[in-house]
Amino acid sequence: MTPGEPIAAVYDKTADVAAPPTHVAIIMDGNGRWAKVHNLPRAAGHQRGAQAVKAAIKAAVEAGVSYLTLYGFSSENWKRPQDEVEDLMGLLRLYLKSEIKTLHKQGVRMLIIGDRKRLAPDIITLIDQAEALTSDNRRLTVTMALSYGGRDELVHVAKLLAEKAARGEISPDDIDEDMFARYLYTAGTPDPDILIRTSGEQRVSNFLPWQLAYTEFIFLDILWPDFSKQDFDAAVSNYLGRDRRYGATRG
Ligand code: IPE
Ligand code: IPE
Ligand code: MG
Repeated sequence: MTPGEPIAAVYDKTADVAAPPTHVAIIMDGNGRWAKVHNLPRAAGHQRGAQAVKAAIKAAVEAGVSYLTLYGFSSENWKRPQDEVEDLMGLLRLYLKSEIKTLHKQGVRMLIIGDRKRLAPDIITLIDQAEALTSDNRRLTVTMALSYGGRDELVHVAKLLAEKAARGEISPDDIDEDMFARYLYTAGTPDPDILIRTSGEQRVSNFLPWQLAYTEFIFLDILWPDFSKQDFDAAVSNYLGRDRRYGATRG
């Protein structure tokens, strides 16, 4: 799918997967368990997890993927103990400060989705700066989902459309899948071809409920800090063997 392509046209493709994926999404899970296995504090697991993010971005660039979407912090993760939330926010600050120039040089465009109002003002500034600096890059678009909740995103769209209808700018009859998708946080980004989740859990944990409608899921038993280029490439090969029918039959 290319940005702006009508959703009906995407479902009509019913193609065997022959081309590499355009968009890979990852639920980066298992930092805490990795730390436990290594007898380390959870913060150390998150630190190693941040290293694995760099490896995943590099692997995506090398695989020729155009979009990589990473679940970094969910709207539900705010419920964790305050010191863990602070550790994660500290790592995010560090990552944004230290990595953006490198990512920019690699031709990476950074986008952040989620409820940014809940983030600290200095983090919001770093995010704004990262998005502005990298806005013209097209080699790979990395979307970080931070303070992101899928249901929250859908409610956000519903509110925007209801407000438009109340102002008389649209009629409820005008609302269709394409219009709805244009108001998602991910507007302009095609739906993921692959969703990878590490750590052995087999659930989506409120990640991209709209966008994953026809995504191919790959669940891996490894813990996120151990995720490597080999795992990324293996997921892409696995995807290439899949048959995407989008509800249609194949002759
Ligand atoms: C993923 O690892 C990182 C975040 C959710 C922020 P976890 O911290 O969830 O690790 P586990 O699931 O406890 O092992
Ligand atoms: C999902 O992982 C969120 C991120 C990876 C950022 P969680 O560890 O929060 O999910 P649950 O609690 O196992 O569903
Ligand atoms: Mg987890």
